[in-house]
Amino acid sequence: STYALILAGGSGTRFWPLSRDARPKQLLNLFGSDTLLEQTINRLDGLVPRENILILTNAAQIDAVREVASMLPPENIFAEPAKRDTAPAVALGIGLVAARDPGATMMVLPADQLIQDTVAYHAVMRDAIATAEKSDGLVTIGIRPTWPCPSYGYIERGSRASIPGLDCEHPPAEVSRFREKPSTDLAEQFLAAGGFCWNAGMFVWSLPTVIRELSKHAPELANFVSELRKSSDPAATVAAQFPELTPISIDYALMEKASRVLNIEATFDWDDVGSWISVAKYLEADDSDNRSNTPLSKIDSENNIVFNDNKNVRIALLGVDDLIVVQTGDALLIANRHQADAIKKLSAELPKEL
Ligand code: GDD
Ligand code: MG
Repeated sequence: STYALILAGGSGTRFWPLSRDARPKQLLNLFGSDTLLEQTINRLDGLVPRENILILTNAAQIDAVREVASMLPPENIFAEPAKRDTAPAVALGIGLVAARDPGATMMVLPADQLIQDTVAYHAVMRDAIATAEKSDGLVTIGIRPTWPCPSYGYIERGSRASIPGLDCEHPPAEVSRFREKPSTDLAEQFLAAGGFCWNAGMFVWSLPTVIRELSKHAPELANFVSELRKSSDPAATVAAQFPELTPISIDYALMEKASRVLNIEATFDWDDVGSWISVAKYLEADDSDNRSNTPLSKIDSENNIVFNDNKNVRIALLGVDDLIVVQTGDALLIANRHQADAIKKLSAELPKEL
């Protein structure tokens, strides 16, 4: 059967002051509708049964995750005992799924992306699942790159994969190279060379395949999976061994090294909503290109992004351009919009309770 593992344990420093340790991007109400985590779960309706959807997060976020994911069986939501990045989280997820069905096909999904075309998403993911079932490859989803972004993984698509018995609409390609977060220079070279796509951060594989690849390329994680499967008390094994695992992302730990990686090109829209600038695209614009989620009073002010999470406060702008203004119950951010990426750095300068 098919399982989905949703990774929802990242921290949300880029959306300060809205995001906090206990409330990262996937738990924010950025678009006046469902949170990204809720959308990620609901997007699986008709693709994966709810009892086969597992969520991994951490202790600081579990209460908020449980609330948002109340449509799932509560025993499908787990907190990692320590933050160790995505490779240990994926290994834990593999152990959990293997305990239920050792022959399962498993999708690994980030919780923090905006995808609106669910029909196209289902069509692509169905083909990814079929590809994973009929091959010995780790299946990735490719996004057509638009600029040399250094915070994504890059996938070089080679020849069309030959997979006996596979009949699908979105044919997979063999991947000749997977390179996580290259420098901007290298990313530019990739784009100039052509044939590269961004890694969407979603993976589909069969358990026997991924366990074999882990044994070859990430023995520490393979060992953890096997300890977990042997254990008569998995919770105790996780508590004792998980915090000892090396913090690293699955992209570096496995995808860059794996023997066979396949890629299917996404035909759906995809936005990983990396900063206030990307959120702004979805907010309403006024006649001066100010984008906001709140009624705004303004004179002589252009191209500002205003996000108000405290409806008791009225925001007014006078003679200012290119700002990001974010108002919450206990904090106010005023930033130059050209420095949106440095909000991450700023959040490190703040008192701990913020
Ligand atoms: N459970 C758990 N535990 N989840 C985690 C942890 C953790 O320790 N750390 C991160 N996550 C979650 C995040 O919440 C997110 O949903 C997902 O795992 C991916 O982690 P990110 O930290 O957001 O990764 P990234 O954006 O830097 O890079 C990945 O995604 C890009 C596309 O958005 C990579 O896969 C890139 O190759 C890819 O291009
Ligand atoms: Mg991300």
